[in-house]
Amino acid sequence: MTKGNFVFHNNVEIPNLGFGTWQIPNEEAYDAVTMALKNGYTHIDTALAYKNEENVGKAIKDFDISREDVFITSKLPAQTKGYDETMDAFNETISNLGVDYLDLYLIHAPWPWDEKGKDYTEGNIQSWKAMEKLYNDGKIRAIGVSNFEISDIQALLDNCDIVPMANQIPFYVGRDQEELLTFCKQHEIVVEAYSPLATGQLLDNQDVKDMADKYSVTPAQLLIRYCLERDTLPLPKSTHEERIKQNKQVDFEISQDDLKQLMDMEDVRK
Ligand code: A2P
Repeated sequence: MTKGNFVFHNNVEIPNLGFGTWQIPNEEAYDAVTMALKNGYTHIDTALAYKNEENVGKAIKDFDISREDVFITSKLPAQTKGYDETMDAFNETISNLGVDYLDLYLIHAPWPWDEKGKDYTEGNIQSWKAMEKLYNDGKIRAIGVSNFEISDIQALLDNCDIVPMANQIPFYVGRDQEELLTFCKQHEIVVEAYSPLATGQLLDNQDVKDMADKYSVTPAQLLIRYCLERDTLPLPKSTHEERIKQNKQVDFEISQDDLKQLMDMEDVRK
């Protein structure tokens, strides 16, 4: 990691904190992304499935920032598998966003959401080949996956040419996925942490609150900092300017003892 950036194995740099837009409806996405840009975010994460790409793209376009100064990620829908299908979905995404290239494009999940766990290896391989082609043609600066387990990534390593540059997974205090982290590190795959606040469920946790007080930060800031300390790239989401601003102010260090305490916490998922 260079200062403020992670570096992919192809040397493309990605700002080490991104603005997540999952669950931000299209009507609210314009204002939310504008607030993020205003507060210094230069990395915006969206997906075709979020149905907000249009206003994410419009907000970026209307803001006084040049295209190459914003890092834009989008994702191939989980149910879209296959070479031609991937090309079509990519074209839909760049047209929605109003851009001519993406910084990062991810396979959203190894299986359609309503068939979680089903084997779509062949479909993923064909989609990956399309993404390799788009990458080689200069349409995408980096390609990766999301919600992939070790075996899903291994199938791409065994059958394709380009090692994914990123794996975006749910990652937060209590949900560390150590084996997957180690595997990704071995293959120089950057791990991006979505839902770094456990979609908000960790914010009222007493242990988190107590530790945040000790550092004079908010629970959200502690949880976001935790991701960085674990070498993962957090993608916090908010539609409130005060929070958007706060979530980016995470320039402090968590001590080794406190880090260990956080690593030992249970998963809060209900
Ligand atoms: P909101 O969008 O209303 O601000 P995650 O990033 O883990 O998915 O968590 C997102 C949830 O956490 C959202 O409900 C968001 O609410 C809330 N949230 C984000 N940042 C903060 C913050 N700094 N303080 C309190 N709640 C926050």
